[in-house]
Amino acid sequence: MTSPRILDGKAVAAAVLDECRAEAAALTAKGIVPGLAVVLVGEDPASKVYVGSKVRTCGELGFHSRKIELPAATTQEQLLEVVRQLNADPAIHGILVQSPPPAHIDEQAIIRAIDPRKDVDGFHPENVAKLALEDATGFVPCTPAGCIKLMETAGIATSGAEAVIIGRSMIVGKPMALLLVSKKANATVTIAHSRSKDLPAICRRADILVAAVGRPEMVKADWVKPGAVVIDVGINRIADASKKSGYRLTGDVAYDEVAPRCSAITPVPGGVGPMTIAMLMKNTLQAARQLG
Ligand code: GUN
Repeated sequence: MTSPRILDGKAVAAAVLDECRAEAAALTAKGIVPGLAVVLVGEDPASKVYVGSKVRTCGELGFHSRKIELPAATTQEQLLEVVRQLNADPAIHGILVQSPPPAHIDEQAIIRAIDPRKDVDGFHPENVAKLALEDATGFVPCTPAGCIKLMETAGIATSGAEAVIIGRSMIVGKPMALLLVSKKANATVTIAHSRSKDLPAICRRADILVAAVGRPEMVKADWVKPGAVVIDVGINRIADASKKSGYRLTGDVAYDEVAPRCSAITPVPGGVGPMTIAMLMKNTLQAARQLG
């Protein structure tokens, strides 16, 4: 098989961030400095890394940012109070509470407390509804938006394609399905999940296969139709004593065996990951524009 096209998320994200930097400067000149607040509850090491990169990227683009790190023992009411204060703060246009929070927190209640006009994650029911309604005033969740942008930039046609998404999360699987079935993308969409019967056979139907389950290297070569486009959303930490950090990152796709069968594939790291942050910055600009 010929080598697949490697979908370079780092390069596409860099181009999106350049556009964001220019738009941030234009808004700032009008007296609106885009502002993002990122809230992290607890000590999850991967979440700390993600939150750190979000805040760092804000700095690089000339956004105002606020990082709020709260102890794991923070109560639901304390977290709600933080959200209320950010809702009322005119310097903050976007609010993101890093998921997953500790188990004692009712995540849905926190999401519902965020002002939907500042919900740059697109997790609030109002924004979920707007995505289903194809109303562009809503916010589209960053990871699926990044996957679509990556495919668009590569000129991958979705219209009429069979798309299979593995994973039904509110962060990736469900919004990805809505984006792919929209009148803009026109794909035929299947959402598969842990209870799906004969998952490999479902995946083999896919012209576009999106893996978003969080199971390292689950998708094997014989799950993939020759010539398919494979989008790997997984970022899994695998213990690796040969690395200084003690771990390496791997996706949900067994890359080495799957890549030779594909027409295009995203690497991990450097595929979908950087796109998520770029789309978060775009959403924050959208919030700043819409809130004024
Ligand atoms: N955890 C993993 N991905 C995301 C995301 O896109 N937003 C938030 N808030 N938490 C996450």
